[in-house]
Parts: sequence; C-alpha cells; structure tokens
Amino acid sequence: MNFLANKVAVVTGAARGIGAATAARLAADGAAVAVLDLNEGDVEGAVGELVKGGATAAGFPCDVSDSAAVEKTFEAIRTQLGPVGVLVNNAGVLRDNLLFKMSEDDWETVMGVHLRGSFLCAREAQKSMVDQRWGKIVNLSSSSALGARGQANYSAAKAGIQAFTKTLAIELGPFNINVNAVAPGFIETAMTRATAERIGVPFDEVKESSLHEIPMRRIGQPEDVAAVISFLCSDDASYVAGQTVYVTGGPAS
Ligand code: NAI
Repeated sequence: MNFLANKVAVVTGAARGIGAATAARLAADGAAVAVLDLNEGDVEGAVGELVKGGATAAGFPCDVSDSAAVEKTFEAIRTQLGPVGVLVNNAGVLRDNLLFKMSEDDWETVMGVHLRGSFLCAREAQKSMVDQRWGKIVNLSSSSALGARGQANYSAAKAGIQAFTKTLAIELGPFNINVNAVAPGFIETAMTRATAERIGVPFDEVKESSLHEIPMRRIGQPEDVAAVISFLCSDDASYVAGQTVYVTGGPAS
C-alpha cells in the first residue's frame, strides 16, 4: 500500500522501539519519514536502516520538550523533506516511583517529554497541515492512563494525552486533520526491558508472568502498535477522530 506517497511523516522518538517500527511502517506506506530523537548517532543509525530498506528518510536530533529546538527542527524538515502531513508523537520516558519517593524532577521530566513535547510538535505540525487541508496526528497514550502503581507522573501524562487528543480533534477536524491516540499495553521494547531491570526481575520472567493477564496470550510487539497507527493515518480511518485505540491484546483495564 502506498497511501502516504508524497506525504511527509514526522515520528518522534523514532530511533528505537515503537517509534522505529512506526517509522518503518509509514515508510512502507509510502511516506518520506523524518526521524526525531535525542541522540545524533541513534538518529543516523535509524535513518540508515530505513534508507537501506528503500525508504526516503532524514534524521533530526531534537529534544521534543525544547521549544526552540522543535521550532528549528520543523523548519529543517519543511526545507529538507517538504510540508508535514503526518505527526506521530511517540517520544517517551519513564521516571517511575511511588508518590512519596517521586521527585519534582521525575514529575517535570515525564510531563515535559510526553505532554509539552506533544504540544510543541503538534503546534508546529498543524501549520502545514492546515495549509494543505490534510493531516494525521497520532499521539501515544498508554493503558497506564487508567492508573498504574508507581506511575503517578506517567499515568497523569498519558491520561492528559487522551484529553489533548480529543481537543485537537475538535479544533483541527474542520481543516480535515484527524487526531487520534493509541494506548498500548505491554509492548516488548527497551522501555519495558529497563523497567524489568529496575525492579530486578529478569525480562523473560516479567513477560512470562504477564501472559496470563493478556487475553491474546502474547506480549505485544512494536509492529502491533505501528500497524494501528498506520490504519489511523489511512483513508479508511478518515472518519475517526478524537479516539483512543487501546492496543493491549484484550479489553483495557
Ligand atoms: P523506548 O524507550 O524504547 O523509545 C522511546 C524513544 O523516545 C527513545 O528512542 C528515546 O531516546 C526517545 N526520547 C525520549 N525522550 C525524548 C525527547 N525528549 N525528545 C526526543 N526523543 C526522546 O520506548 P517505547 O517502548 O518504544 O515507547 C514509545 C512510546 O510508547 C512512549 O511514548 C511510551 O510511553 C509509549 N508506550 C509504550 C509502552 C510499552 O510497553 N513499551 C506501553 C504504552 C505506551
């Protein structure tokens, strides 16, 4: 399928995990992909993989919580690749801690990347989307939005993403811009691997013990999320707006 031919897709946090899988999927859908992530080497590595696979891609080292950097990056994307048509706000971090141990820095860092980052990137991306009267924005929420022990910061941010998504859908819908969110459950990435390390349990054991709670009886893969994001960017989903699609291998709880 080439339904994103001649479109530019920006994926934040695209150097690895769900972001990398999404960049590859949107490239396969025909988009020219802008890979945003913190570290220049990681960005170049991810772009190299995409180009090797036949994609048009360019890398932009950028901290999405830094407004000046975001503004400069979107300018560079417009110059190098063209007007932005798709934005996937995927960059994310964890700073898990029980409330009584959570520092202000833990709180601010998570809010900064997930909420402020999504806001700054969406504000930049909408400019060319409004001009083109066409756009797709997909924000990464999480099943943690429903509440998760040790994640007061992250669950609040991911619930906030859902409200942000609905509001943007209302504001941008009249310009033919679809804004939706995906809320993954347990997806096998560096992020979940790091959580296992932090709690001192081998990752294989964490996966094994989670299986009985997941009706589909398997751990999600980055490609499972990328496929839903791709659908939300397709014409088949052109009448879907302001929704959060849970990608959790079962009903979210
Ligand atoms: P990951 O940790 O493997 O990848 C996240 C990427 O974001 C990294 O490459 C990182 O460098 C980048 N990043 C972090 N801060 C950044 C910043 N300030 N500016 C630009 N890039 C930044 O994480 P994963 O698992 O691929 O998660 C992707 C998204 O999906 C995140 O928003 C996460 O919260 C969400 N998610 C993940 C789940 C999972 O089970 N893995 C479940 C639910 C949601």
